[in-house]
Amino acid sequence: MSDAKRDFIDLAEHDPAYLKHLLDLTGRVKSGGARGRPLAGRCLAMIFRKSSTRTRVSTEAGMAQLGGHAIMISDGDSQIGRGESVGDTARVLSRYVDAILIRTFGHDEVVELAREASVPVINGLTDLLHPCQVLADLFTATEEFGGDVSALRVAWIGDGNNMANSWLNAASRLGFSLRLSSPDGYGPDAEILARAQSSTEVAIVETPAEAAEDAHVVTTDVWASMGQEDEQSAREIAFAGYQVDAEVMARAHPAGIFLHCLPAHRGEEVAAEVIDGPRSRIFREAENRLHVIKAILLDLIG
Ligand code: CP
Ligand code: NVA
Repeated sequence: MSDAKRDFIDLAEHDPAYLKHLLDLTGRVKSGGARGRPLAGRCLAMIFRKSSTRTRVSTEAGMAQLGGHAIMISDGDSQIGRGESVGDTARVLSRYVDAILIRTFGHDEVVELAREASVPVINGLTDLLHPCQVLADLFTATEEFGGDVSALRVAWIGDGNNMANSWLNAASRLGFSLRLSSPDGYGPDAEILARAQSSTEVAIVETPAEAAEDAHVVTTDVWASMGQEDEQSAREIAFAGYQVDAEVMARAHPAGIFLHCLPAHRGEEVAAEVIDGPRSRIFREAENRLHVIKAILLDLIG
């Protein structure tokens, strides 16, 4: 690994100035600032070991719009699925492409890929983290409430999953307030929580309504993430009472918005009247995945 190489794997690894720079760059990209073909001749390998709509299509479209090219690799059509090691894959791909985006199960696999690759590695979601999504969510919040991220109050309701952990990491670096409400046994990663609590105002509260109190952003995610499909029925029981419904949204700041990374299950983690209602910003949030990944790509390989 070269010293100069920068990866985008974990928001907690980046200093606040860098994260703010990415948010600013996203704004410039969104308002048409990335003209010409700044990534002409650049290639990105995209390893998807889990399903994706937004991450895959926004990244592939983003590379094309910037003049570059993206190559999709999955288990079924590469040697990864037949057991070729992460290290060999990283070293080989580094000789063909300028960066690698990976979506997989174990977070360690991404860390190892980044260690062995000589090109930047982008985390497109692991069981532990989903940093590109939370950067897009933060950008969506700044569009609504202005650029001072540290002034935000965010409510996380439901599973302490990859999204919750990434919100904690973002809060620990950018200093905004975060309140989480999860069923017993489904809280966020203990180490990530402790680190965030040592650096900013993070509270674990009993009920979704308490979490949502005066929040600018109320957000949630599915009860069973990819890889947890066989836990769906048990989780439906454990998460009863953790739906973001109109009553929960009524507790939020008067201008508070609802975000969801999608895909969503209406009637489970969120009521249809909320996700399809006037305070929902889910499609702008999904669109912002495109502008965010373009900013990350421009920063890493532009
Ligand atoms: N939000 C998100 O990452 O969506 P996909 O799973 O469709 O990529
Ligand atoms: N927590 C969800 C996010 C999907 C974008 C999952 O990991 O399946």
